[in-house]
Amino acid sequence: MPQVTEPPVVPGRGYLGTMLALPFDDESYLDFVEGLRRFALTSLNPVAAAAVRGRVGPNGASLNDTRRVADRLPVVGLRNRLLRSTQDMNWARVVAAYQSIGPRLEAELAAADECGPGRVELAADWEYPQYYRDVHYHRQPGGYHEDPLAGYVYHYGTKVFHLGANDNDETKTARAWETPAPADGRVRRVLDFACSIGAMTVAFKQRWPQAEVCGIDASEPLLRYAHARAARLDVDVVFSQQLAERLRFDDASVDVAYLGTLLHEVPHEVAVRIVHEARRVVRPGGVLVVHDMRQASDPPDPWEEYDRDFDSRFNGEPYAYHFVHAGFGRLLAQLFTSVTTTSGRTVTWVCTA
Ligand SMILES: C[S@@+](CC[C@H](N)C(=O)[O-])C[C@H]1O[C@@H](n2cnc3c(N)ncnc32)[C@H](O)[C@@H]1O
Repeated sequence: MPQVTEPPVVPGRGYLGTMLALPFDDESYLDFVEGLRRFALTSLNPVAAAAVRGRVGPNGASLNDTRRVADRLPVVGLRNRLLRSTQDMNWARVVAAYQSIGPRLEAELAAADECGPGRVELAADWEYPQYYRDVHYHRQPGGYHEDPLAGYVYHYGTKVFHLGANDNDETKTARAWETPAPADGRVRRVLDFACSIGAMTVAFKQRWPQAEVCGIDASEPLLRYAHARAARLDVDVVFSQQLAERLRFDDASVDVAYLGTLLHEVPHEVAVRIVHEARRVVRPGGVLVVHDMRQASDPPDPWEEYDRDFDSRFNGEPYAYHFVHAGFGRLLAQLFTSVTTTSGRTVTWVCTA
């Protein structure tokens, strides 16, 4: 396969971290949006949380009762409006900016489809499942799959969403290096479930250069962008269009698998099938790392309940509220030989098959 030797088409300002920089005006606007989001999350959130907990009490209230209290509090309303509107401002500006150079970007993707290192394998006669087509995740226009430029949009859009913390793939790289190898040290194949733009996939190849590293995802535009990005970074990985609940991998053929922020994005029965698929493909002694939204406490914390419900209703996360209550830790413990749990802002389960 030919290699990508020249940097692909750039709209004037090169790269911002690992993503294509935008014209100065757009970048400045999006910095402002990021600042508003930061204000909502770091200044308003703690005040809103304390106000809700103070009025509802530490436990016992139903979600509806909590909503009745919280929805009337001005600080909660301001926070909610800022979170929802900054999402929409973010996506609208990023979409418009990339669409203005859409033909150049589409040509860049088409050229990269044919280049190495690595490759992208798209499935013939692919059909997106109904549950996937129905959702515009995180309010991204067209969801993950409708816009051919969805990969570019997702990359810059999540920059704002994560407040710039992953501009150079720092978070993903750190997570890849924290992923434990199996006890026998053998890592011949690594599977990144639902790899989106492939940042973890690339980081896994850097962590285990000798291994075959594969990222699977449902979305054609995200996979094509992931491959173009990995080839530009000169990293040899394979991106493949597959459903996580119906993998084309043999039993026990994977040494290390990573399942990051997918389970909360699919209906419960699909999430259960995905966990069973993960168990099927990871070899005895192999490792599965599941990283996702923090689980509900027992008894549930009223602010956490309210916040997760807000996400489910207003941030394109219809399955998230159910996920944090569904007890996936118990299912993992039934299927795997050992599971260790680390819980903070998110939860990580390290499972040995
Ligand atoms: C929030 S992103 C996760 C990105 C990445 N794993 C990470 O940790 O940054 C969710 C990804 O899951 C993909 N996805 C959703 N349902 C899927 C399914 N059933 N099979 C494969 N991919 C799926 C989406 O296309 C999207 O790229």
